[in-house]
Amino acid sequence: MSAQGVNKMRRRVLVAATSVVGAIGAGYTLVPFVASMNPSARARAAGAPVEADVSKLEPGALLRVKWRGKPIWVVYRTPEMLEALSSNDPRLVDPSSTVAQQPEYCQNPTRSIKPEYLVAIGICTHLGCSPTYRPEFAPEDLGEQWKGGFFCPCHGSKFDLAARVFKGVPAPTNLVIPKHTYLNDTTILVGEDRGAA
Ligand code: FES
Repeated sequence: MSAQGVNKMRRRVLVAATSVVGAIGAGYTLVPFVASMNPSARARAAGAPVEADVSKLEPGALLRVKWRGKPIWVVYRTPEMLEALSSNDPRLVDPSSTVAQQPEYCQNPTRSIKPEYLVAIGICTHLGCSPTYRPEFAPEDLGEQWKGGFFCPCHGSKFDLAARVFKGVPAPTNLVIPKHTYLNDTTILVGEDRGAA
């Protein structure tokens, strides 16, 4: 074998050895991490449903929980917020939620089970940033027609308080509404609907 051939062979052996060490290292870090989780943390990581307690949520406020590693928003919409929703319709891409971005029981004007509570996955449908909550009416930077909603700082997509996307922004569809159900008046189970909303 030429000197060049020997060098190439050495490089290959070195790369292979590094990959094996890397894999072993990853294995060692992963196992104690998973083992250290308690059973409910393990279940959550695997995608088990999570409960959102809205008993202390103020009207107009947003609660964040995590499900399958994703931010879930619960917004307690005020009567004024709900009333303003339909005025957005002409400026929305899909005001009637015809694209399957929600369970069937949320394909309605408020995209929710109970009108006052919006439950949505807080991930922009453009490239996956998490939009910011902008509940105020007509703020200077979002214009006079703004009736509260979500603004994605990455590329400027805008969604209303039913998580419906406005026209003329990069996000193609409304935000996703996850399946959910009410365990009682103030507890929402996200990630499962038990066949009945
Ligand atoms: S990721 Fe939200 S606008 Fe691009």
